[in-house]
Amino acid sequence: LFAQNCDFIMGSPVLDNLPPADLGEIAFAGRSNVGKSSLINALTGRKTLARTSNTPGRTQMLNFFLLGKREELALYLVDLPGYGYAKVSRSLVNQWTRLMKDYLRGRPNLRRVYVLVDSRHGLKEGDRDIMKLMDESAVSYQIILTKVDKLKKGEQEKVREATEQAIKKNVAAHPEVILTSSVKGDGVDELRASIAALAAS
Ligand code: GTP
Ligand code: MG
Repeated sequence: LFAQNCDFIMGSPVLDNLPPADLGEIAFAGRSNVGKSSLINALTGRKTLARTSNTPGRTQMLNFFLLGKREELALYLVDLPGYGYAKVSRSLVNQWTRLMKDYLRGRPNLRRVYVLVDSRHGLKEGDRDIMKLMDESAVSYQIILTKVDKLKKGEQEKVREATEQAIKKNVAAHPEVILTSSVKGDGVDELRASIAALAAS
């Protein structure tokens, strides 16, 4: 699947004109600046497909990418705006958070949501909020610990264990946590394989 093209389809600031829900879809959620857009670029091998930035609050809409070929195997990847904090007004962040939550609750073709968490910081309140929302709406999700290039191997294993322990009672959570680095490439092949399996399911 990842040998195929991936193209930007559209960005939408509202829920009423999204692409038709006729393909499986995978979304990337997480706090601002956690590395969602960078991970989409690492997965697709395209440095500038999704716009990234040092400034939290870069991604401001639901951004849809079509991975693969419609006639064969294809999937939408969705880059979501971050929650938590951003270098924009409180009311804009609230607006994005509302958009993201409505999308997560209501999108029928959503196969899985990857919840990205900075491996140096662990789960935060905003992460727990959307995990709860997805547990309640039976949306399957999996935690990805990002930026593991910033941690030593021993520290990586500790945060993996602590995170897996912390999500034990979350009914819609995949029990295993994935560790990634978009800079060094850790976990990228593993994640590609799991996305390809979801596309074929
Ligand atoms: P918003 O769109 O604002 O919600 O942010 P985002 O989650 O899409 O983050 P983005 O991909 O724009 O990355 C934020 C910053 O983290 C950028 O400066 C990236 O270069 C950096 N970054 C992303 N992934 C990694 C990683 O794996 N390792 C390191 N060291 N830095 C990373
Ligand atoms: Mg982004």
